[in-house]
Amino acid sequence: MPKILILNGPNLNLLGTREPKIYGHETLSDIEKKCGQRGKEIGTSIDFRQSNSEGEIVDWIQNAAGTTDGIIINPAAYTHTSIAILDALKQVGCPIIELHLSNIFSREPFRHHSYVSSIANGVICGFGAHGYLLALDAISRLVSEKEEC
Ligand code: DQA
Repeated sequence: MPKILILNGPNLNLLGTREPKIYGHETLSDIEKKCGQRGKEIGTSIDFRQSNSEGEIVDWIQNAAGTTDGIIINPAAYTHTSIAILDALKQVGCPIIELHLSNIFSREPFRHHSYVSSIANGVICGFGAHGYLLALDAISRLVSEKEEC
């Protein structure tokens, strides 16, 4: 069964109460449950994590090399700042989807640049919590296409 790692960056632990007009009312735990259900439906195992620490996220990405079939990452604010996360993702060797709840391109200019987009297979943003399910469908397709190669 393919293993999908879903990584969430800083402040996403506050979903539900954090700027709900932008990020919605669902908590990260609600989203994790939905991902688990979708994972069962599409036959993938889901490892869902959140950290406020850039170094911990880098460690998780490094450890994913050779053990994970696909990564979905919402790097949150590190999207716009982290060369360390970009460098870690560059060496991981599996499909990567970058995800944002909000449409970062309709927000402040400093959110328009992402370090991660240059190495992601695709980017999903602006669909709120539903974006996680869209990303799961997309990554499972990428993983099965890779297996067929
Ligand atoms: C975010 C967008 C980022 O700009 C922001 O810093 C976040 C969340 C999103 O999911 O919309 O923390 O990644």
